[in-house]
Amino acid sequence: MTITEGKNFFLKSLKKIYSVEEISYYYKIIVNEVFERNVSQLALNPNSILKKSECIFLNKAVKDLLVQRPIQYIIRKAFFRSLTLDVNENVLIPRQETEELVNWVIEDFRGNSNKNKMIDIGTGSGCIAISLAKELKNNMIYGLDNDDSILNLAKQNSKNNNVYVNFFRKDINFLNSLNLKIDVVVSNPPYVLKEEKKNMRLNVLDYEPHKAIFVDDEDPLKFYRLILDYAKLNLKTYGLIYFEINPLLFNELKKLIYQYNFKIKQRIDIFGKIRMLRLQRSL
Ligand SMILES: C[S@@+](CC[C@H](N)C(=O)[O-])C[C@H]1O[C@@H](n2cnc3c(N)ncnc32)[C@H](O)[C@@H]1O
Repeated sequence: MTITEGKNFFLKSLKKIYSVEEISYYYKIIVNEVFERNVSQLALNPNSILKKSECIFLNKAVKDLLVQRPIQYIIRKAFFRSLTLDVNENVLIPRQETEELVNWVIEDFRGNSNKNKMIDIGTGSGCIAISLAKELKNNMIYGLDNDDSILNLAKQNSKNNNVYVNFFRKDINFLNSLNLKIDVVVSNPPYVLKEEKKNMRLNVLDYEPHKAIFVDDEDPLKFYRLILDYAKLNLKTYGLIYFEINPLLFNELKKLIYQYNFKIKQRIDIFGKIRMLRLQRSL
């Protein structure tokens, strides 16, 4: 199959469920990231032949895309700010909203020469922790999750991006046994209600890890409460907490946070929804 035939096959097979722009984007990242070839150069040689392994990959990618498997799991990579991260079905695909949360922390700490300790609670691919380690070099960054396979992936990602993060295994339910004094807590914990499932797209529901996404409808603020309990004992006096949140839970969460005696600043995401909070002790 030539490169032109490959692209036509890709377009024809997928046009029922994706727009031409989406299909062209998927084709481009497969060619760039998996075949490690340059789409623009290939366009100059439309009759260049795809290798057998590349044809096999394209065929499989079409099958996967037809059942709405996310492209990031197909190519096993995701892009987060300036980072390229390995991902697999054990970890959430990093989101744009989370980039905004990280931008907020970096904005606040860029140029700060203190050696702060920062922890990312529920690290997944390590996208938050690795970004902080990359951009706020004089800080010590920690990242926790409760699964070794997830932590191995996060460690690999930090290695690939040439930074050190102290990743360790810990269950958020047992954060009360963590005696790490900390300057900054950042967390994007599971926060989607099970009742929201009916409005969610198949590519999220069928492929992304439910453990990373959903909380029990009976106690949807559980992770925030456990993190606030940890912060109560371990966050330094002038420390800060950055949370990504479910806009539907904002009012309830605000009440909870006030019980812990924190002031709140909020930010909206690109869709105009309250998605990020910064907490500071009321002194
Ligand atoms: C919403 S994902 C966030 C992942 C990543 N920080 C990001 O922003 O893309 C929540 C993370 O919390 C982790 N998690 C869920 N329950 C946990 C628990 N009980 N203890 C520790 N981590 C947990 C999941 O494995 C997942 O990586």
